[in-house]
Amino acid sequence: MSNRTFTMIKPDAVKAGNIGNILQMITDGGFKIVAMKYLHITTKQAEKFYEVHAGRPFYGELTQFMSSGPIVAAILEKENAVADFRKLIGATNPAQAEEGTIRKKYATSIGENAVHGSDSDENALIEGSFYFSGLEQF
Ligand code: PPS
Repeated sequence: MSNRTFTMIKPDAVKAGNIGNILQMITDGGFKIVAMKYLHITTKQAEKFYEVHAGRPFYGELTQFMSSGPIVAAILEKENAVADFRKLIGATNPAQAEEGTIRKKYATSIGENAVHGSDSDENALIEGSFYFSGLEQF
């Protein structure tokens, strides 16, 4: 079990002015920010990041959305980081997210759901390395 995960604060939450609130929930949840950047990715870059979902019906919508405005990308550290962070963000669909989760509070729909969290240790490493060089994440 690794102690790191990768997250993005998505364009909807950035536009709504919720970067500070979400980072507060993340640090209150016991996560340490190991690396962080604010950037606006292109649709091509979003397609590459989400290529495991190519062919899914929402792939176009998801990649358009993720390149529609700036995001915050970060690597987080905590014991049991991947599972604990998935718990903190809540279900993909905010209608099914539990009270007290980030998506319950700040997501508006299954597509515009405020935050991303890696779903496995392996993907946390791959996704973190997509945004951060080795020098930025040790
Ligand atoms: S799965 O089946 O567990 O791999 O998929 P899931 O984690 O539910 O979703 C993967 C990412 O796709 C986004 N998603 C959608 N976007 C737009 N429209 C619809 N209907 C939709 N369904 C899922 C979802 O927010 C996930 O994005 P990330 O960035 O991984 O949270």
